[in-house]
Order: sequence, then structure tokens, then C-alpha cells
Amino acid sequence: MTEETWVVTGGAGYIGAHVVEALRGAGRQVVVVDDLSTGATSRVPADVDLEQLSVLETGRLTGLLRDTGAVGVVHLAGKKSPTESMSDPLLYARENVGGVVSLVQAVRDSGARRVVFSSSCSVYGSPDLPSVGEDAPTLPQSPYGESKLYGEQVLAAAARAHGIGVVSLRYFNVVGAAGPALRDTGTYNLVPLVFQALREGRAPLVFGDDYPTPDGTCVRDYVDVRDLADAHALAATALGSGRSGGTYNVGRGTGYSVLEVLDTVRAVTGRPLDHRVVDRRPGDPASVVGDVRRIARDLAWTATRDLAEMVASAWAADRDQSAPRRGPDRS
Ligand SMILES: NC(=O)c1ccc[n+]([C@@H]2O[C@H](COP(=O)([O-])OP(=O)(O)OC[C@H]3O[C@@H](n4cnc5c(N)ncnc54)[C@H](O)[C@@H]3O)[C@@H](O)[C@H]2O)c1
Repeated sequence: MTEETWVVTGGAGYIGAHVVEALRGAGRQVVVVDDLSTGATSRVPADVDLEQLSVLETGRLTGLLRDTGAVGVVHLAGKKSPTESMSDPLLYARENVGGVVSLVQAVRDSGARRVVFSSSCSVYGSPDLPSVGEDAPTLPQSPYGESKLYGEQVLAAAARAHGIGVVSLRYFNVVGAAGPALRDTGTYNLVPLVFQALREGRAPLVFGDDYPTPDGTCVRDYVDVRDLADAHALAATALGSGRSGGTYNVGRGTGYSVLEVLDTVRAVTGRPLDHRVVDRRPGDPASVVGDVRRIARDLAWTATRDLAEMVASAWAADRDQSAPRRGPDRS
């Protein structure tokens, strides 16, 4: 039997590179599409084709889907900072919403009939619930969250109109790395920010300790990037077996406060770590924890790695940046 080909947009990025590994591990051929705006060629294995193009280039994307005979696309390409989206909302409309529109057009005009979409728990905004299910109200608090929600809606409409199978995965907070080459080099998320502070010998900032949570700091649901990547492979399999699709939270269903994450970093790294409490950041919800029963039921996915394992893998990858690269430098 010939292997199915899947295109991974954003496959040179942090999460996308782990998705490439998971799909290949599940026996699929993979082609990466990435404009390398934040991605790195060193994250793409040497035996995986990398097409440097923007998902906004609909004609080239359609041609690629046709030429490769791809059956589906995992769409991760996009911008990911809620804070940046507040100051540059048009960038998020163009890249995230425009990216989905362009992708749907390319899928519709090619033979690919399946899409796994990288959505986010930011579609929920500030849920006033101990744990938030997929049917909870969606009230995003930033143009980033709005762009993810609208992306889901465009895909759902295209699924109905054009018979495309769509799974939208709402990621919670992603941590960890399968190795140094794949680590999160961005500084948007808590753990990379704490590591950066450690490297620079300064105290990491804690934004607010007067939230209505047990220790006053924000509570989030953290998921290991390797577990998250496996969810994409299971979604691809489900779509291939005729399942029409759906929307799923991807988290552990467990909340940790910022102070608990700092304690875990102290335990894993063995480094002393003093933090500094500063004012709340505008728009930060007190607590966002996922109800993850639906994905367990439908896709037989549950997170296997706990917070200490996530932080340990991220720390090992961060410390070992000088390790040999996985593939030859393409640049
Ligand atoms: N990291 C998280 O905690 C998190 C949480 C929820 C959702 N997400 C979503 O997951 C996806 C991947 O996030 P990440 O953390 O890996 O970020 P990343 O910046 O490492 O990866 C994004 C990749 O997309 C590429 N890209 C951006 N715009 C493109 C375009 N127009 N055409 C082609 N390629 C383009 C970048 O070069 C990069 O390789 C994003 O859509 C993000 O919104 C991330």
C-alpha cells in the first residue's frame, strides 16, 4: 500500500516540527510548507521536502497539493501572539484568517479532502468555569483568538459546502521538546520566558498575584508538545476512516498556577529562582483549564506526560542547543 501524503503548513515551526515527526511515525509521507518567517530549516528533517512559500500564495499551494497527491493538510502556519495581535490586528486578519481562506480554496481546488486545524483555547477568552468544554461560549479577548475562532468557522462552512473533513484542535499551553533542534525558540510562553530569565541571571516576572485562584497567580492547562503532536496523527487517521470531523480541546484537564510552574522549574533545573511580581497584563484570564473528555472519547487521545516531564524535556533541549543538527543546513 502506498503511503498517504500530508502537507504540514508551518512544519518548520515549534509545534509543526513535532507534528511532522508524529505523522511520519504513523507511516505518512510529509511535505512541509513554510515561509520561514519564524520557522527554521534546521527543524525539518533532511529527507522531508520543504517548500518555502506562504499559505497566502493560493495558486502555488494548490499546485503543490495537486503535484504531491496530498490527501490532507495539517494547517499550523500563522501568527500566535495575543499581545502582538492587539497592536497589529491586520497582520492577524491577513495571516491567520487570510491563511485559512487561501488554504480552503487550495484544498477545494485539489484532491485533498481533509484538514486538521491548529486552533487555540484563546477562543474561550476568560471562561468563568472550573473547566471549559468545547460547547462553552466562545468569547475571544484578542484579535488572535478571534482569528482562530473565525478560522474554525470558515473551515466548518467549507466542510459543509465542499465535503471536506475538518478537525479543529484547540491547544492549551504547549510545553516541551523532542530534542534541541525542535525546541520552542519563541518567548511568548511561560516556560521559555523563565528559561530566558535564568540564562540572563534575572528574576522572571509574575504578572499579578491577586487573581481569584488558590495562590493568586494565573492558572493554565499545560500539554506536552509530543502528546499534542500525536493528537494530530490520530485526527488524520480519524478523517481517513470516514469520520466527518469535529472540534476538540487538547490539554491535560489539569490546572497549574504560575507559582506551581516556577516550583517545577526549580525542581527540574536545580537552580535557585526568585520571581518578581508585577502588575497584571491586560486581558489575562484568571484560569483556563480544558475539559478533555471529548477527545478521549472520539480520538482515543489522552495526554501521557506530566508537567515535570514537559519542563524537563524543554530544559534538556534548551541546555543542549549546541548539539548536532538533525539534518544538513539547507540555507
Ligand atoms: N505555542 C502554543 O502554545 C500555541 C497554543 C495554541 C495554538 N498555537 C498555534 O499553533 C500554531 C503553531 O505555533 P508554534 O508555537 O509552532 O509557532 P511557530 O511560530 O514556531 O510556528 C509557526 C510556523 O508557521 C510559519 N508561518 C507563519 N506564517 C506563514 C505563512 N503565511 N505561510 C507559511 N508559513 C507560515 C512560520 O515560519 C513558522 O514556521 C500556530 O497557528 C499557533 O497559533 C500555538
